[in-house]
Amino acid sequence: MARKRSTSKPTTAKRASAPTVRRTIKPSTLLDTRIVYSGDCLDQLAKLPDGCVDLIYIDPPFNSNRNYEVFWGETKEKRAFEDRHASTAAYIDYMRPRCVELSRVLKKTGSFYYHCDWHASHYVKVMLDQIFGENSFQNEIIWKRTGAHNDPRRYGANVDSIFFYTGGGSHTWNPIYVPHNDKYIARFRNVDPDGRRWTDDNLTAKGLSGGGYDYEYKGCRSLWRCPIETMRRLDAEDKLHFTGKGGIRIKRYLDENKGVPLQALWDDISPINSQAHEALGYPTQKPLALLDRIIKASSNPNDIVLDGFCGCGTALVAAQNLDRQWIGIDISPTACRVMAKRLQDVCKIREDEDLWRSGRGFVVRGLPWTEENLRKLPPFEFENWAVISLGGIPNKTQVGDMGIDGRIFPVTATPKKVGTAKGETPAFEQFLDHWYPIQVKQKNKVGRPDIDSFEAVMTREDRVKGFFVSFDYTRDALREIDAFFRKSGKVIIPLTVREILDEQIAQKLV
Ligand SMILES: C[S@@+](CC[C@H](N)C(=O)[O-])C[C@H]1O[C@@H](n2cnc3c(N)ncnc32)[C@H](O)[C@@H]1O
Repeated sequence: MARKRSTSKPTTAKRASAPTVRRTIKPSTLLDTRIVYSGDCLDQLAKLPDGCVDLIYIDPPFNSNRNYEVFWGETKEKRAFEDRHASTAAYIDYMRPRCVELSRVLKKTGSFYYHCDWHASHYVKVMLDQIFGENSFQNEIIWKRTGAHNDPRRYGANVDSIFFYTGGGSHTWNPIYVPHNDKYIARFRNVDPDGRRWTDDNLTAKGLSGGGYDYEYKGCRSLWRCPIETMRRLDAEDKLHFTGKGGIRIKRYLDENKGVPLQALWDDISPINSQAHEALGYPTQKPLALLDRIIKASSNPNDIVLDGFCGCGTALVAAQNLDRQWIGIDISPTACRVMAKRLQDVCKIREDEDLWRSGRGFVVRGLPWTEENLRKLPPFEFENWAVISLGGIPNKTQVGDMGIDGRIFPVTATPKKVGTAKGETPAFEQFLDHWYPIQVKQKNKVGRPDIDSFEAVMTREDRVKGFFVSFDYTRDALREIDAFFRKSGKVIIPLTVREILDEQIAQKLV
């Protein structure tokens, strides 16, 4: 398929002639960077100009039953997504227009990486050949995703495929070398007085096509690989090894060896385990080391890196740490909030419009935070929005949540004793035990039965305070909250979406 030239006017893009007041160097006057867009990448990409991005990495939801497309646990949205991609053909139909847009925004000198697995990889390759052109295909990288996979009655499927295409011009390429194996290193068994380890290598051209240089050097006549001037220079630099048998060989030093050029089989990057420092708890999160490698190989500082399905933002964090410019897109508002927090925590850059305008910081655009849009959000996303807005932590699973959608750990809840004397609960656990439940209902009016069941949760969990979020409450519901307080001394705070949007909740949270 031919590359489409955009006819749409870039709305977020700036015109080249527009005056710029930014203080820092911008990679392109046509494009704003350090932005996370919330929305379908198909729509967001349509707003970008042609040929503006240096490197694209995508890791879209697979056509798999492993439920990659949502962040947390079992939800109705996940099942809906599975149904939509019920067949590989439907998955490819979904991805094709998005990949066409990605190919349009890629520079001729740019590179494109598509991360997938065996479920659809063969179909993805055919689609990408059609979009980018077979000649633009560079590699299929095989990444060993897990140590071992116990797949009954077949070989363990423990690898992912990452297809690497380029934009059709002379693409950016920074070769990466990895250390030789121990067996190879053991060959450097000779040691110079200064401690440098070396092995020797052939200097004769015997058996090589293309001839050589026939001369005698220090009593040894042969057909040599180098002219006599080079031989003399090597000798002066003490790089010749005169063998006992009258032969001459060249010394190869271990410390001059760059290593092995990286091959297409990557088995040296471990998956993220739950204990890893970078782990955020999402099943789809990719290791930073993987993105570091791709970004280093296929871009230079200040180049623009784009991830159209950026999940919890691994590519953006790697790009920021490597001094690249970046653009992230994700359809899930929750993902966008999570990656904003990760960028702030890990990269120490602030989400701040003014800072961003002055060339630092970053911004998140397109979050559907109006009452009208929030009503339309899938329930899972709505719950996450509400819990995160209150500064709480959403439940990872929707099944078995026992009526709690999230928890607030109040800052005032520092444990009294920090010591861990015998029989004392450790400080961290004391802290973890101090929380307030959050219940979220995406309803126009929450009634008394909803409050009754939240009261049961608070009694069961022995909590003194809890938060309820909804669009509104019936009079009966509010009366019941009052009665519950008088009866039990426990406080339920009913919050409306409007109050949260208007940021009127701070006092109620104390
Ligand atoms: C496998 S995850 C990406 C994980 C990411 N590589 C990381 O390390 O965190 C796929 C992401 O694609 C997002 N997504 C699905 N369809 C999308 C679309 N049409 N446009 C943008 N994002 C989409 C999902 O919300 C999900 O966060």
